[in-house]
Parts: sequence; C-alpha cells; structure tokens
Amino acid sequence: MFSGRVWQGRTVRFTGFQLVHDAAAARVRAGRDRGLAILPPQWTSPVTDTRTITTARPAMNPRSSAKPITGDIRMGVYTGKHAVITGGASGLGLGIAEFLVERGARVVITGRSQERLDAAREKLGANALTVRGDVASLEDLDSLAEQVLAEFGSLDALFVNAGITRTAPLEEMTEKAYDEVFDVNVKGAYFTVQKLARLLNRGAGVVLTTSAANVMGIPTTSAYAAGKAALRSLARSFAAELTSREIRVNAISPGPIDTGVLEKEMSPEAAAEFIAQRVAENPLRRLGTPVEIATAAAFLAFDATYTTGVELAVDGGYTQL
Ligand SMILES: NC(=O)c1ccc[n+]([C@@H]2O[C@H](COP(=O)([O-])OP(=O)(O)OC[C@H]3O[C@@H](n4cnc5c(N)ncnc54)[C@H](OP(=O)(O)O)[C@@H]3O)[C@@H](O)[C@H]2O)c1
Repeated sequence: MFSGRVWQGRTVRFTGFQLVHDAAAARVRAGRDRGLAILPPQWTSPVTDTRTITTARPAMNPRSSAKPITGDIRMGVYTGKHAVITGGASGLGLGIAEFLVERGARVVITGRSQERLDAAREKLGANALTVRGDVASLEDLDSLAEQVLAEFGSLDALFVNAGITRTAPLEEMTEKAYDEVFDVNVKGAYFTVQKLARLLNRGAGVVLTTSAANVMGIPTTSAYAAGKAALRSLARSFAAELTSREIRVNAISPGPIDTGVLEKEMSPEAAAEFIAQRVAENPLRRLGTPVEIATAAAFLAFDATYTTGVELAVDGGYTQL
C-alpha cells in the first residue's frame, strides 16, 4: 500500500506500483496517451492488478469539478494497445502476454492446445482472448485474422513466437522432424505475418522470436538453428516490405531461458545438469527469465520507433562475448 499526493490535493491510494489520475485515465481512454506520462517512470511500471482508488481528503481547489476515481481500473503504458502473441499460452509467449496485460494491453494468444489456452486465459484475465490454431495451417491463420479483426479491429503489435524444437544428430534427423521444424518455425512464421499484416496499424511493431542457436554451431540443433536463421532473414525482408506503412519488424534472439520446459521434458537430474552447463558457459552465469524476454520484446514492438530489421540478442552475452 502506498499513498501519494497528485493534482489538486487529491490523495490516491493504490495497491500496485502505479499512480493513476482521472485526467490521465481519460487521456489514455481517449487514445491520446500511451501511458501516464505525467508520472516519473519509476512509478509507472508494472501495473499490478485492479486497484481501488479513493479520495483520502478533500480537494484543495474547491472549484475543482474532478471526481475521485473509484472502482477497478486496469491502466498502464499499453492501455488501448492490441497485440497478438502466437504460442502465447506457455513459456516466453505467456511471459510476453502477462507483461502486456499487466500494463493495460488487450491480447490474443494462440496455440494448439485448448487446455493450455484455457489455463493461460485463467491466469491472464479478461484482457486476454484465446484463439486455437496451428500456425502451420493457412486456414487456421485466416481464421485467426478474422477473429482478431472482429475483436480488435486492428493491431499495434504482433509477436511471432510459436516455435518447436526437434533435436537429433545429422545422421539421425528424420525428414518428418525436419519438415515439422520448418513448417512451424519458418512457414508458420512467414504466413502469420502475411495473414495479419493487413491488420497492423501504421507504426505497429512485429517481433519474431529467433534463437541464439541461429548464429552458433551446436550439435543436434541443425534443423532448428537453420530454421531460426531463416526467420532472422525474414525479419529483414519483411521490414523492408513494410516500411511504407511505417511498420517495424525486428527479431528477438533468446539465449537459454528458464521457462520450466526442461523439467517437463527431462528427468530432474538431466535438467539440472543441462542448466548447470548453460549457466557455466554464460557470461552472466545464469539463465534468463521470461520477463527479461518480455521486456525486450515489448521494447522492440512499442518503444524502438527508429529500429527495424535488427535482431536483438537477449542471452546474457552468450553469442556476443
Ligand atoms: N526457452 C528458450 O530458452 C528459448 C531460447 C531460444 C528461442 N526460443 C524460442 O522461443 C519461442 C517460445 O519458446 P518457449 O521456450 O516459450 O517454448 P514453449 O513453452 O514450448 O512455447 C512454444 C509455444 O508455441 C506453441 N506452438 C508450438 N507449435 C505451434 C503451432 N504449430 N501452432 C501454434 N502454436 C504452436 C505452443 O503451444 P501448443 O503446443 O499448444 O501449440 C507453445 O505455447 C520459440 O519460438 C522458441 O524456439 C526459446
């Protein structure tokens, strides 16, 4: 709990980190502000949850007609913004969805598992909508575009994040596994952008999730790494094609991030050993966290307004030092 004085002698109580004033709220609702520019940046993130705001003492200006804000408000730097996050029901995609929703955005998250989507929706609340679909299916992507159009009308950000991993040594890689990786990670990403591009507002940001693997030579990851390298290339081509609409396209390249996924796929001992190796070889001597990816992805999508065609490594220096 925190109390602070803002305009006209009004005291605002809130349970999160962010002060809200009714004039600022009105500006945001009217779409004139991205966020609460009147407040020091250290007070403006993250918005936590709904807050009850009350006038704790009378306004100092008796002529003021301003009314206290009461009730539940979810307001933040991304209020009024609409985003799609493919693969948004788990891991890094869910981290991006949480980051944006906590700051006021409305998001559509996609994935193939209805169960995972339902669980994510439960976690994210009413500002998250779910659309089940396979990014490798153009029919599903058409349906996604229609639903996004119906719900949001247009988009401010698109996070092309859905991806799969298939690892095998060169001699053992099957055609099936190779095709699966390229169908989801390359074709899926390509047509996600194609199908949703028409909904992107002028100035919108597209963020493609690549991987540190695309600039490394890591045994058993050949198909995955090649697919991510293709995606990095697409970031440049898409960026060039969309500049006329002032749409920026960038890539985010995560290093090893602690999403809990390893523990699901390996024994606890194997996961612990794998993590220990990644930590030992990382310049920052730790794994990254989903919120560190989300922070960088949101920066590329919304704040990096003079940046397009780049790949931002968020990997503790793993590919750079
Ligand atoms: N975690 C890391 O350390 C790391 C590092 C570098 C890059 N990345 C990249 O980051 C992205 C997210 O990975 P993550 O670690 O968060 O893994 P994750 O938890 O498995 O997330 C991947 C998401 O993509 C969805 N997905 C997979 N195939 C799909 C398809 N055909 N159509 C629609 N959705 C699909 C999955 O949902 P369904 O299975 O329900 O469809 C899942 O929600 C991936 O592109 C990955 O390559 C991750």
